[in-house]
Amino acid sequence: MPTATEELNFTGKNLIRMADLTADEIRGLINTGLRFKEVSEREIKKVPALRGKTIVNLFFEPSTRTRTSFEIAGKRLSADVINISASASSISKGETFKDTILNISAMKPNAIVIRHSSPGAALIASQITDCSIINGGDGAHAHPTQALLDLMTIAEKKKNFENLNVTIVGDILHSRVARSNINALRSLNANITLCAPPTLMPPRSDVFGAKITTDIKKAVKGADVVMMLRIQQERMGQGLFPSLREYARYFCLTPEVMKETKDDVIIMHPGPINRGVEISSEVADGNKAVILYQVTHGVAMRMAVLYLICGGTKDE
Ligand code: CP
Repeated sequence: MPTATEELNFTGKNLIRMADLTADEIRGLINTGLRFKEVSEREIKKVPALRGKTIVNLFFEPSTRTRTSFEIAGKRLSADVINISASASSISKGETFKDTILNISAMKPNAIVIRHSSPGAALIASQITDCSIINGGDGAHAHPTQALLDLMTIAEKKKNFENLNVTIVGDILHSRVARSNINALRSLNANITLCAPPTLMPPRSDVFGAKITTDIKKAVKGADVVMMLRIQQERMGQGLFPSLREYARYFCLTPEVMKETKDDVIIMHPGPINRGVEISSEVADGNKAVILYQVTHGVAMRMAVLYLICGGTKDE
């Protein structure tokens, strides 16, 4: 449980995007997340910090990791957690997004976690309710808790962000994870390299302040951290690349590409992974991959976010 005051320096009401956070707030959230890891290693994985608080998980898009880890995080903090999916809500009967948010807010939860396919959905929700809003991923815009758990994993494995070489490979155009991580890594003074086919790189990618390449072997050389991204076929039209097979030929992280990396590189992926498309099974299941640590850290980081946003008590 957090006790050191320097770890509690995030006092925001909402968490919409990483660009809203200062470097100190990001460091504070990482440290708070690292301290919460210990609760999940106890035999009784529960603390009373959010007793009497209510959290609603409102998911309009599929999710395994984000939804489950927010639910587990809330329950480990003793909050009451309610899950609503779009297909089981009155959205399927024609209710608007705004009315859904207003009706859930009228039941007085302390926080609503929203996942939605439209960029800006979480921001709009925060403008129409007094309840705290946490963005669980909105279209290609932002996924702040994913970036925070990624940063927590990097902090644990690499200690220092200053001049750390981080390479992000894959479908950057459609990736809220890439955008959120790029924002945060820049704040923390890491060096960023982006690698993608030109059709999967956003226009004006120069604004990211990153090195840009289409050559995966060059991209991973000298990297301390390699983040692979999923090809998001559900967000793309036709023709951004000829076939998955051809994409894999040039952009899949394989044992052959791994020959170019540093010995102590860590391989990350936010999941879900497409084995054999952006990452081979040998690499995903290999000893440099920290993909399942990321998932474990997802619970601790979401405990930190809920604790700070919902005003948790410091009782053990
Ligand atoms: N990384 C991530 O957001 O996974 P889910 O879509 O399963 O939540």
